[in-house]
Amino acid sequence: MFPLLPLLFLLFLLFLPLTTSHPSPSHTYTTPCNPPTLHIQNLTYTSSIIYSNPAHLSYASAHLTFNLSTPSLSTLTSLCSAFDSSSQQSDAGFFAWPRNYTCSGAPPQNATFSWARYPSSVLSVNETWVCGGHEYLAVGKANVGLSCQTVNWVNPNFTWPNPGGEVYSSSVVTCGRVDLTIVPKVRIIR
Ligand SMILES: *[C@@H]1O[C@H](CO)[C@@H](O)[C@H](O)[C@H]1NC(C)=O
Ligand SMILES: *[C@@H]1O[C@H](CO)[C@@H](O)[C@H](O)[C@H]1NC(C)=O
Ligand SMILES: *[C@@H]1O[C@H](CO)[C@@H](O)[C@H](O)[C@H]1NC(C)=O
Ligand SMILES: *[C@@H]1O[C@H](CO)[C@@H](O)[C@H](O)[C@H]1NC(C)=O
Ligand SMILES: *[C@@H]1O[C@H](CO)[C@@H](O)[C@H](O)[C@H]1NC(C)=O
Ligand SMILES: *[C@@H]1O[C@H](CO)[C@@H](O)[C@H](O)[C@H]1NC(C)=O
Repeated sequence: MFPLLPLLFLLFLLFLPLTTSHPSPSHTYTTPCNPPTLHIQNLTYTSSIIYSNPAHLSYASAHLTFNLSTPSLSTLTSLCSAFDSSSQQSDAGFFAWPRNYTCSGAPPQNATFSWARYPSSVLSVNETWVCGGHEYLAVGKANVGLSCQTVNWVNPNFTWPNPGGEVYSSSVVTCGRVDLTIVPKVRIIR
């Protein structure tokens, strides 16, 4: 037996926010079925690698953050952040394995992204949202023209043994800020 009544009730719930004249105060819907443009703002990338002696990596991490908004869907902005703390010995090693990261919620859209740092900085963003009883998926991809600064430092006074626990060297890469817009490919998935 096909459960028609619960389905109709669900559709009613889905349409409810679109048909009420007063949207919830936390966000303002505009024309929700318009093809979206993904707005990426304040994208920054940093990585740090610190050695406590020439043979011992003591700290390694890389961090990408950006703000994502889709003005045709919502006035809200979500925060997208990816962290890699694998024991890399050079910046080129970070984010080498493809992974999906989730942006912090900004209803009505949900977003995931992936990030590849080398050989070129490629950002892929997927967003899903519900409109008119359908669920949509937007798939966007862009090369991020990052301009980066690398500061390498070696402690000139480093001696071995090192009773004071001094740092031997550090390498810090700082890139951004970058703003870009991506026009994604959109399809109905449900
Ligand atoms: C981007 O950064 C600038 C400067 O810090 C800030 O004024 C602006 O609000 C940020 N944008 C977003 C979407 O957070
Ligand atoms: C934008 O991103 C920064 C961190 O990169 C975060 O502190 C800020 O809260 C974000 N802005 C919004 C509106 O989410
Ligand atoms: C990322 O998510 C998509 C589905 O949205 C999936 O097909 C893909 O395998 C995931 N990739 C990784 C590396 O988990
Ligand atoms: C985005 O969606 C496409 C198509 O379903 C999928 O191949 C890809 O892995 C997804 N990427 C992310 C970051 O979810
Ligand atoms: C957003 O993500 C939440 C949690 O994964 C899920 O329950 C919800 O159905 C998603 N909404 C859309 C529009 O994809
Ligand atoms: C190295 O030692 C000299 C002399 O003690 C001192 O002036 C200098 O600040 C030290 N440099 C560092 C990076 O600690």
